[in-house]
Amino acid sequence: MRFPRSFLLVSLVVLTWSADSQPFNYDESKVPKYKLPDPLLMESGESVKTVAQWRTQRRPELLELFKTHVYGRDPGRPKDMTFFTLEQRHGVLNGLANRRQVEVRFAGRRDGPRMTILIYTPAKAKGPVPTFLGLNFRGNHTIHDDAAILLPHSWVRGRTPGETVNNRATEKGRGKAKNRWAVEMILKRGYGLAIIYYGDIDPDFDDGFKNGVHALYPKPKPDGWGSIATWAWGLSRALDYLETNKTVDHRRVAVIGHSRLGKTALWAGANDERFALVISNNSGCGGAALSRRAFGETVKRINTSFPHWFCDNFTKYNDNESACPVDQHLLVALSAPRPVYIASATQDRWADPHGEFLAAKYAAPVYSLLGAGNFPADKQPPPDQPVVGAMGYHLRTGKHDVTDYDWARYLDFADQHLGK
Ligand code: GCU
Repeated sequence: MRFPRSFLLVSLVVLTWSADSQPFNYDESKVPKYKLPDPLLMESGESVKTVAQWRTQRRPELLELFKTHVYGRDPGRPKDMTFFTLEQRHGVLNGLANRRQVEVRFAGRRDGPRMTILIYTPAKAKGPVPTFLGLNFRGNHTIHDDAAILLPHSWVRGRTPGETVNNRATEKGRGKAKNRWAVEMILKRGYGLAIIYYGDIDPDFDDGFKNGVHALYPKPKPDGWGSIATWAWGLSRALDYLETNKTVDHRRVAVIGHSRLGKTALWAGANDERFALVISNNSGCGGAALSRRAFGETVKRINTSFPHWFCDNFTKYNDNESACPVDQHLLVALSAPRPVYIASATQDRWADPHGEFLAAKYAAPVYSLLGAGNFPADKQPPPDQPVVGAMGYHLRTGKHDVTDYDWARYLDFADQHLGK
C-alpha cells in the first residue's frame, strides 16, 4: 500500500505525543496490584520439581502459551531455502577483519524474498569464533563506514512504503548507526559479528502481512506470527546459515537486539535453543518489561501503535494484562539455563527499567532449578553497577540507546559464558 508522506508525519507526531503524555503511568506508587504467574507452577496446578518436568512439560507449555497469546506461530525452516555468497574479502577494516556478505533466499530464488547477512570475523582467528548475531533498523550499511557494505534491497525506514529504494538517498545512511555497533571492539575481543537489516525479513509497517517473507505464506491466523515473530524467525534462518559457515562457531552464537529488536532477540532465544546466549537491550513492553505493571508503554498502546508486531490474540489483553496466562518474566525463563542479559537505561522510562529488572528476578527460580545458580540481586542495582551470574542486568545512565558501555558489559558476559 502507498502511504502519503503527510500520513507518515502525522503518525510520527501522534506517536511522539503519546509517548510523552498521560495517561501513561510513570509513578511507581500508581503501579496496579498484580499477581504474576509462577514459572514453576503448571497449568494443571502441579509444581515443577525436576529438571525433566521443566524440559518436557513446563517449558513446552509456556512456549505454546506465548505462541498462542503473544507472538504467534511461525512456519519453521522453508524447505527450498538456499544461501549464496555475494561478496567476501580478507583483511578489511585495516587488517582487523574478514568480511562476507551472504544472501539467504527463502524460497531458493533470487527474485523471491531474501535477506543479506553481513559477517565480520577477526582476521587473526585461528578457528571458528563465538559470534554476536543481531538485526539492525536501517540497513547493514548504517553500522559501519565500510564502503563495501551492500545497500539494502528492501524498503528502508524514512521512505514511503512501496517506493523503490533510491540508492543515492540510502547511501547517505552509511555509517549513521555506527555508535550502536562497536564493530572494532567486538573484533578485537575475538568475536565475530553477523547482522541483518530487519526490513529484509519483514518491512516494519502494517500492510496486512503481504510483503517481506509473508509473500510466501497465507495471511496469519489470530495466533499466527506477527512481525516480531517473523524477525525472530529470520534470526533462526541466519543461524541455519551460520551452521554451514566455518569461520563462525555456531554453538556459540549470542543473539542480541535493541528495543523492538530486543523483544525480537528474547523471542528468538526462547524459541530456538540453538542460541547460546541472549541479550535484550532496552526491550521494554513486549520484551523484558512486565506487562502487568503497565508502567510507561502498555499492551494496549503497543497493540494500537504497532498492530502488526504481535499476534491478533494479544489484543485481548489491552487494558486487561492480568487475564493473559503469561507475563514477560516467563519469556526470560524460556532461555534458561542459557545465559541471558537484560539491560535498561535510566532515562528510558517508556520501557519500564524496573519492570525489566523484575522480569530477570522472577525468572531466576527457573535458573536455580536448572542448576545455573541464583540471580545475585534482590533489588534493582543503582545505575552503572552490573549484576552478573547466569543472568546479567544493568541500568545504564542515559537514554534509550546501545552504547559502548553496553557492549563492554556484553563482551565481559560473553567471555564469562562462551569463553574465547
Ligand atoms: C517505540 C515502541 C517501543 C519500541 C521502540 C523501538 O518506542 O513504543 O515498544 O521498543 O519504539 O523499537 O525503538
